[in-house]
Amino acid sequence: MKVLTVNGSPHLHGCTDRALREVEATLNGLGIDTVRVNVGNKEIRGCIACNYCREHGKCVFNDIVNDTAPVFAEVDGVVFGSPVYYANASGQLRSFLDRLFYSTMSTVNKTMKVGAAVVSSRRAGSTTAFDEINKYFTISAMPVVSSTYWNEVHGFVAEDVEKDLEGLQTMRNLGRNMAFLIKAINAIKADIPTQERGSFTSFHTE
Ligand SMILES: Cc1cc2nc3c(=O)[nH]c(=O)nc-3n(C[C@H](O)[C@H](O)[C@H](O)COP(=O)(O)O)c2cc1C
Repeated sequence: MKVLTVNGSPHLHGCTDRALREVEATLNGLGIDTVRVNVGNKEIRGCIACNYCREHGKCVFNDIVNDTAPVFAEVDGVVFGSPVYYANASGQLRSFLDRLFYSTMSTVNKTMKVGAAVVSSRRAGSTTAFDEINKYFTISAMPVVSSTYWNEVHGFVAEDVEKDLEGLQTMRNLGRNMAFLIKAINAIKADIPTQERGSFTSFHTE
């Protein structure tokens, strides 16, 4: 069993990384492997809606999105972490997730892969960023893993997060809850429901 963790911050050892490391350590302690992908320090362009992926099963831009797609396919869960930028997730993470989810629409079965958002802010705007990331899960038949508070830490540098004891506790509980859900879902894998996909209702006229 394995979880993909994604850091949407340009700071490889910043606050988001610190929060993700707490989740990863908890998962590892419970027998779940983790694999980290850093996207915040990459140049990641947004989706251009060219629909190349519909035909070719991968994004037209051959970068970290296409590299991550096979990892996404094999893991049981994901944790997407981001610093809060103007009350949103980072642009890099949003571009990455738009293209990852859109380009793998028919190539990666996401049903019952569990997902969690983790956000780090200095002061405010965390819950809107948190909501934004959770939207990728709830359109993909992915159960959202919750904790004992919204999954957030506070700080400007990683050292600040060390003092956010409740934030780190929230991360550990998130890791425990994610490990439990992954094991529970794995135990009944044969019963995972197939999703009806026939209807695609768009109210446009030619
Ligand atoms: C462009 C930019 C916008 C930011 N916007 C916010 C914000 O809306 N609210 C907030 O509390 N902090 C904001 N911050 C601060 C970061 O969210 C905060 O320091 C975060 O913990 C950094 O995480 P990191 O170390 O993983 O990069 C912003 C920082 C930058 C660079």
